[in-house]
Amino acid sequence: MLHLTLRQLQVFEAVAHHLSYSRAARELHLSQPAVSMQVKLLEESIGLPLFEQLGKKIFMTEAGREMFHYSKAIAEQLREAEAVFEQMKGLDRGELKIAVASTANYFATQLLAHFCQAHPQVVVHLDVTNRADLLKQLEQNALDLVVMGQPPEGHDLVAESFMENPLVVISAPNHALVGVPQIPVERLAEEALIVREAGSGTRSASERFFQRHGVAPRTGLVMNTNEAIKQAVQAGMGLAVVSLHTVSLELQAGRLAVLDVVDFPIRRHWFVVHRRDKRLSAVALAFKQFLLAQGSGAV
Ligand code: PGA
Repeated sequence: MLHLTLRQLQVFEAVAHHLSYSRAARELHLSQPAVSMQVKLLEESIGLPLFEQLGKKIFMTEAGREMFHYSKAIAEQLREAEAVFEQMKGLDRGELKIAVASTANYFATQLLAHFCQAHPQVVVHLDVTNRADLLKQLEQNALDLVVMGQPPEGHDLVAESFMENPLVVISAPNHALVGVPQIPVERLAEEALIVREAGSGTRSASERFFQRHGVAPRTGLVMNTNEAIKQAVQAGMGLAVVSLHTVSLELQAGRLAVLDVVDFPIRRHWFVVHRRDKRLSAVALAFKQFLLAQGSGAV
């Protein structure tokens, strides 16, 4: 086994290329004796001279020409390896591990589709869960990025808002309050409210809202998906506070109605969140930029 270093090969290549120790030294920002020393060490480990001096000129020996052939091949292999690693770090082949709040899933998958169209080689792992679980996963450093409502202080997270998330009161289209203007919040105390599971960001935001207004609507049902809530509201089982993002199709189709309650919508925002100590991959960084570039126009 030859004992040589990549540095020796690099110096050798420069000398072989220029057929001059001084020009090689200039190219590599080394002194000429340093260049001669590296070549000498290489010659010692091979056991043959690589260059010979005739007058003022140097020439490659037969061993030198062989070495030149292999050193170029080795350098080429290293460049190729570098390109592979760059691609891995880059956008062409990366993996993206994200999780979004159940409520954010109504627009996040569409945004993800746009992103994947632009980066078809990226493999995306998407988890859809509620706010409490998202915070737990961030704690465990299990993800690159999370899309959720504003995270609480003290978790050492970076959170940037990129889109509005208005919460509205929905009812069945034939409910008595449909079309009534400026319904006082207190009026909702007479209605049954269908709410999300504990741990949902939508639920805690609406609880805070009602607390601030000193109103306590009766909880009719607790459900752990927005879909189930929409079905229940449509069936006339009660009212619900949901993100406007979750009901656009039903509103268009006239299957649900938004009530005009005073101080609604509750103004929330969607945030793209990651741990402060997370070194984001090129793909994760690109997806974050992509989300931030969406602005607030997509509500
Ligand atoms: P969620 O939404 O209700 O689906 O947890 C997250 C949030 O609003 O923070």
